[in-house]
Amino acid sequence: MNVPLEGSFDGRRSISGTHEDRLSGLRDLLVCAQGMTVLDIAMNHGLIGFELARFGAALVHGCDVHAPCVNAAREIFAEIATPSRFEIVDLTVGAVALESAFGNDYRQRYDIVLFLGIYHKLKEQTSMSIIADLVRHLTNRTARYFVIRTTMIDELDAIVTNKEFKKVHYSALSSVVGPMEIWQRD
Ligand SMILES: C[S@@+](CC[C@H](N)C(=O)[O-])C[C@H]1O[C@@H](n2cnc3c(N)ncnc32)[C@H](O)[C@@H]1O
Repeated sequence: MNVPLEGSFDGRRSISGTHEDRLSGLRDLLVCAQGMTVLDIAMNHGLIGFELARFGAALVHGCDVHAPCVNAAREIFAEIATPSRFEIVDLTVGAVALESAFGNDYRQRYDIVLFLGIYHKLKEQTSMSIIADLVRHLTNRTARYFVIRTTMIDELDAIVTNKEFKKVHYSALSSVVGPMEIWQRD
């Protein structure tokens, strides 16, 4: 699939490159997806979660602030059998918004948590203490892989750095999207 999804709604939604660009660095993760549960934070249309589902993920949950994105993800996942749930969540208020949107379905742990292309967006919208708390909340919810991509990777690294996690993958191959990393729970 090579469909450009340039943002056309507002600055928060803006998204770079094509779906293939945004898969850069993630292909090794796809190979590990069989049977895994996935939480995709700020998933846009949910296409990365969709790829993980196609590679055998057992469940995909995702959120985005933009209602048309959430509706698109719901429509796309209606085409496959993988259990999924997508909710409108404004992350500027922190993790409490995730807990209230997903209620009892919000898992204590997901095997894979994706935090792709959202750190630098949140920096334009909310305080560093809310973002740092959110990142800590998400790493606590990660059973295996915490996956990040941002143009400000060194800053986010400093927040993720944690004795319970080690960095197992780094890719800056793409000239279109920012560098990405996979942190694995030790
Ligand atoms: C650059 S896109 C990244 C999309 C996807 N994670 C990816 O890597 O392909 C940023 C996404 O963050 C969402 N977003 C921006 N601000 C948000 C907020 N305050 N709460 C939740 N989602 C937000 C946008 O709607 C958009 O879908």
